[in-house]
Amino acid sequence: MRNKVLELLKKHKPGYVSGEIMAGELSVSRTAVWKAINGLQAEGYRIEGSPRLGYRLLQVPDRLYPAELVERLDGEIIGVPSVKIHYFPSVESTNERLKTMAEEGAPEGTVVLAEEQTRGKGRLGRSWSSPLGKGIWLSVLLKPAVFPQETPGFTLVAAVAVTRALNGPYAYLKAGIKWPNDILIRERKICGILTELKAEADRLHYLVIGIGLNANQAPEDFPPELASTATSLYLESGKKADRLALTASVINELDHLYTTIRTQGTGPIIQAWKKNSITLERRVSVSLPAGNFSGTAVDIQDDGALVVQGDDGTRKHFHAGEVTLKK
Ligand code: BTN
Repeated sequence: MRNKVLELLKKHKPGYVSGEIMAGELSVSRTAVWKAINGLQAEGYRIEGSPRLGYRLLQVPDRLYPAELVERLDGEIIGVPSVKIHYFPSVESTNERLKTMAEEGAPEGTVVLAEEQTRGKGRLGRSWSSPLGKGIWLSVLLKPAVFPQETPGFTLVAAVAVTRALNGPYAYLKAGIKWPNDILIRERKICGILTELKAEADRLHYLVIGIGLNANQAPEDFPPELASTATSLYLESGKKADRLALTASVINELDHLYTTIRTQGTGPIIQAWKKNSITLERRVSVSLPAGNFSGTAVDIQDDGALVVQGDDGTRKHFHAGEVTLKK
């Protein structure tokens, strides 16, 4: 009932549709329509009622409701109707939740979304600040038929997907990728990606790709320790970001690039990654448990490894680590 009433309101947007017409089209009582309208308003839909004209939809809420999202999706695997988009107002971590679902047999393409994470996880055991309604906290389940060593390519896919989604409405902000998978604007972090996997030595069971995109945080929404290193689209553009549209385009880009990597390999992904890179040709310091290595980032290989040329001319390949861009 809720969905059908919403469908009718959208069909008539920006005009009105009377309760009587909806009741007739749906073969229900006007009270049932009224109840559905009340329910939608409680979910945050702004619906205006006029005794003479009926109801009209003024605004869809700033929530990542799957029903709103699917209307905007055009991919073949991720979030398609045969798999589920699971939505939670609050969850510990979308990655953790999706890993549990994967263990219970969730299909490839399953998506978990939350308005808030109470224990959002970052790379290298860090936490990820995920305040309510301010960002896009999203995880996607993939099961590519590849060896575990090939998984870095799929993290690059996610980084390119987010950069492309941002470069639609926000091309002027010039978001770029810092190796391996941070997205920065003006050298401040706007998005982080955490890929987790289950594998045996020669068989990948699944990948959970977690994306955290800072959309509408004001300065006070960031913990003090991130004040000088993180940013949000709102802070960079001065306008409130449309989280629903952005989430849909991240998922759509992910889906398209996932098809690309599976059919054409990592070549086109690395190309796209390089085009959006803010790491290559920069002086960098790579920190590893064993110490730091400084030099110039000169290339990224097909397996995703970063090639850094040290000051003595030696080249080192990094498959993991944390890069600091130097001035
Ligand atoms: C990083 O350290 O840069 C990676 C941050 C990844 C954050 C996202 S938010 C959605 C997903 N769920 C998590 O707990 N983490 C990832």
